[in-house]
Amino acid sequence: MRVAVCVSGRGSNLEALLRSLGPDDRARIALVISNRAEAGGLEIARRHGVATAVLGNAATGDEWLQVLDANAVDFIVLAGFLRKVPAEVTARFQDRMINIHPALLPDHGGPGMYGLNVHRAVIARGDRESGATVHGVTERYDEGPILGQARVPVLPDDTPESLAARVLAVEHRLLPAAVRAAARTGRAVPFTLND
Ligand code: GRF
Repeated sequence: MRVAVCVSGRGSNLEALLRSLGPDDRARIALVISNRAEAGGLEIARRHGVATAVLGNAATGDEWLQVLDANAVDFIVLAGFLRKVPAEVTARFQDRMINIHPALLPDHGGPGMYGLNVHRAVIARGDRESGATVHGVTERYDEGPILGQARVPVLPDDTPESLAARVLAVEHRLLPAAVRAAARTGRAVPFTLND
C-alpha cells in the first residue's frame, strides 16, 4: 500500500511512521505533501529519501489528484495537516484516508481545536484523562468514524505543554498501528495499539 502523508508543520508523526514501518510491512510512505514549502515534515521526508510535493492553499482538487496519481498513492494519512483537503480527494479516497487528533474525540474536536488549544481545553474542563484519536476522514471531515484511541492521564500540575508531550508520545505509537492495520485490507479499519 503506497501511503501519502500530509503535514503542515514539524512532522514528528511522519517521522514516527517512517521509523516504525519496515521492509516487511505492507505499507510504505511513498509521498509527503505539505501546503507549506517550509514545513519541517518536508525536510524529514527528504532525509528519508521520500518524494515530496507542495500543494499550496489554493491548489484545486484536480491538482491534488494529479499529484496523488503520479505517485500511485493508495492511502492518505493526515498528520498535522491544518488545511481542508479538496472534496474531490475525500470523495476518491473515501475509506482510504485517516487523520490523527490529539484528544479523545468526540470531545475537544472541531473548529479551532488544534495545537495547544486542544490541551488547554482539556485542562480547563478538568478532564482526568486525555489521549489521541485516529479517525476516518469523510466529506463531513471531523465526523469520520473513530478507528482507534490511546489514553494518557492528565496530571494535577499539567500545563498545556506537558500534556501535549505526553499525548504526542502515544500518537507516535497509535498512528503506525493504524497504518499497519489499514495495510492488511487497503482500507481504513478499526485497530488497537497492538496492530
Ligand atoms: C499532532 O498533535 C496531531 O495529532 C495533530 O497535529 C500535530 C502534528 O504534530 N493533528 P507533528 O507535526 O506530527 O509533530
